[in-house]
Amino acid sequence: MKTVVITGSARGLGFEMAKQFIKNNFNVVICDILEERLEEAKNVLEKLTRKKNNVLALKCDVTLEEDLQNVMNKTLEKYKNVDIWINNAGVNQPMCPIWEVESDKINRLIDIDLKSAIIGSKIAMIQMIKQGFGQIYGIEGYGSNDAMMLGLSVYGTSKRGLTYFLDVLAKEVDEKNLPIQIGKLSPGIMITDFITHSVGDESFELPEKTKKVYNILGDYPDVIAEFLVNKMINNKKNGVRINWLSNAKASFRFMTCAFNKRDFFNKLGDGKNIK
Ligand SMILES: NC(=O)c1ccc[n+]([C@@H]2O[C@H](COP(=O)([O-])OP(=O)(O)OC[C@H]3O[C@@H](n4cnc5c(N)ncnc54)[C@H](O)[C@@H]3O)[C@@H](O)[C@H]2O)c1
Repeated sequence: MKTVVITGSARGLGFEMAKQFIKNNFNVVICDILEERLEEAKNVLEKLTRKKNNVLALKCDVTLEEDLQNVMNKTLEKYKNVDIWINNAGVNQPMCPIWEVESDKINRLIDIDLKSAIIGSKIAMIQMIKQGFGQIYGIEGYGSNDAMMLGLSVYGTSKRGLTYFLDVLAKEVDEKNLPIQIGKLSPGIMITDFITHSVGDESFELPEKTKKVYNILGDYPDVIAEFLVNKMINNKKNGVRINWLSNAKASFRFMTCAFNKRDFFNKLGDGKNIK
């Protein structure tokens, strides 16, 4: 049985990817800083499988190297190998210009969104070189393609840096002829806690203009997770970019938005009817 490790997987995209991997018969290791949510997530995952012992939930602050190493060690103790390692944990920034962002929030964001993915990839690489196979992924976001917007300077810098890092890592893997695949997951816009919460899980109100764009281009994370996980499971290529919101899909959404009244923010029923 194959094994996947996903950081930041107590909720949002990480949790939805975990569900998809369970459905595809993987051992799933979830880890997060939110202990209660992690336990709830574990219970949900266990109900999706008839097998015993194929879900492992570990408390982990990805900014601590010893926590990430502990996730790797506990995974190996239980499942022997790691087939896929996904650096998914991420936080948003308060939507204001850089001079209004407290320095501890800047540090925390860079530690979570950029540095933890570098250290996590290093830990995964060391194991995958030993075992002779494996895939490592990171999650792109606003700024990965050089886009700029007021209020996303630090987040955008971390995601731009992450994209660069994953490209270089893929090149290093190629040059050393290693049997490992590095990839970037580009999920587009997801309707998760992330879009209305910043570092430290502080909530903020989205501007109306942004809500309009999210209603057109956004999707719930379960749909996106299914797409991404299927692609990862079938991926054999190093340096791949798995992209949910292609230019063609985005253009189609804008062209049809007058007929397709989606509203994630004033939910009708449970809101799932707009999927
Ligand atoms: N939501 C979007 O529109 C969007 C768009 C592009 C990329 N992304 C990226 O997708 C990834 C997942 O985001 P999401 O939308 O599911 O957000 P989310 O807030 O729902 O989930 C993020 C998870 O990361 C965890 N986390 C935060 N700090 C952590 C830490 N120090 N240690 C361990 N876990 C920690 C959170 O507790 C949470 O469970 C992130 O990397 C984000 O940057 C999100």
